[in-house]
Amino acid sequence: MNRLTMSSFAIFLSIGMWSCQQSSTSNKEKTQELVSLPDSVQFRDTIKGEEVSLYTLRNKNGMEVALTNFGARIVSLLVHDKDGVCRDVVLGFSKAADYHNPTEKYFGPVVGPFGNRIANGKFSLDGVEYTLPVNNGPNTLHGGLDGLHFQVWEARYLSDKAVEFTCSLSDGQEGFPGNRAIKVVYSLSDDDELIIDYEGKTDKKTVLNLTNHAYFNLNGEGSGTILNHQLQIFADKFTPVDSTLIPTGELRDVKGSAFDFTILKEIGRDIEQDDEQLKFGKGYDHNFVLNGTKHEAYNYACQLVGDQSGIVMDVYTEEPGVQFYSGNFMSDKVTLKNGATDSFRTGLCLETQHFPDSPNQPSFPSTEVAPGQLYKTKTIYKFSTK
Ligand code: BGC
Repeated sequence: MNRLTMSSFAIFLSIGMWSCQQSSTSNKEKTQELVSLPDSVQFRDTIKGEEVSLYTLRNKNGMEVALTNFGARIVSLLVHDKDGVCRDVVLGFSKAADYHNPTEKYFGPVVGPFGNRIANGKFSLDGVEYTLPVNNGPNTLHGGLDGLHFQVWEARYLSDKAVEFTCSLSDGQEGFPGNRAIKVVYSLSDDDELIIDYEGKTDKKTVLNLTNHAYFNLNGEGSGTILNHQLQIFADKFTPVDSTLIPTGELRDVKGSAFDFTILKEIGRDIEQDDEQLKFGKGYDHNFVLNGTKHEAYNYACQLVGDQSGIVMDVYTEEPGVQFYSGNFMSDKVTLKNGATDSFRTGLCLETQHFPDSPNQPSFPSTEVAPGQLYKTKTIYKFSTK
């Protein structure tokens, strides 16, 4: 190699390594070629009479995230794999309007004010019963029909690596008490972490349980099943559910069951076992009780590894639980950014949270928030390769 070729090679390598706008020419899979963030002009739209746009962040290593103020969603997350090739590890859409779809509502948003289910759409606080719209069998799921995922949030950049979304919910909106102010900040660190800070305040006692409902595929959006990903969950117990996916109140040992992810295991290994809980969930759709394993000040929730990409995602949180949902209801209903459809189990969610139906389960950690109290919680998704 002459000097000129050597230096062009070095430039090519460094572009390939550090910019997610480029991709390796040796890459065979169409889904991974020229992966880039969606075009912000084509993305933009007006939803519910308000402007919806794309907000992008980038760290010094070239990791990038695109977010939108419709539902404070993650649209794309570009991460380098073990060969330095960039992959978009979050499933989403290239146009804002595609997110305003009543059948497939939960691609990448903040869900709330109460993530996951509340039994029969009812709960009581200080002797007052509140009734919510039911939208999932007999239950209320993810804050009801018009939860945080369907709100147009205010957005502002805090820096080139952080964006803040704010949203107000009025007293009685979707049945929940309190005029509430919700704030979510997404930031990227130079250690390849996507950090989500959630805050909430209310003027009347209420319940809050905020999480993010990104569908991850660490081999890249549209690259097939997640069943060969490996997962470790730092939980010795999970909360078994009834046939409508409401926790029974029991904390059950995972040991010896399909729910044992205490060491890294392929997601597909036990998913077809003859197990009542797997039947109720149509696969994994359960809350795991984090066992107190720590990473710095946070609960170490789980580690996910992409079998083809070698991308590792570690999840650290201040929450006591994580909902592992293995994409069991995905069924080719929508077209994703790269043209693939949302096929069965081609994405999975790891939703850090308080336990489902907590407002009706006194033995679970409380989700109540009183006036004057600041609801505040943080979750970190840290990316690396192996
Ligand atoms: C729930 C699933 C539900 C899904 C909707 C998950 O958080 O646990 O039961 O189908 O959200 O996308």
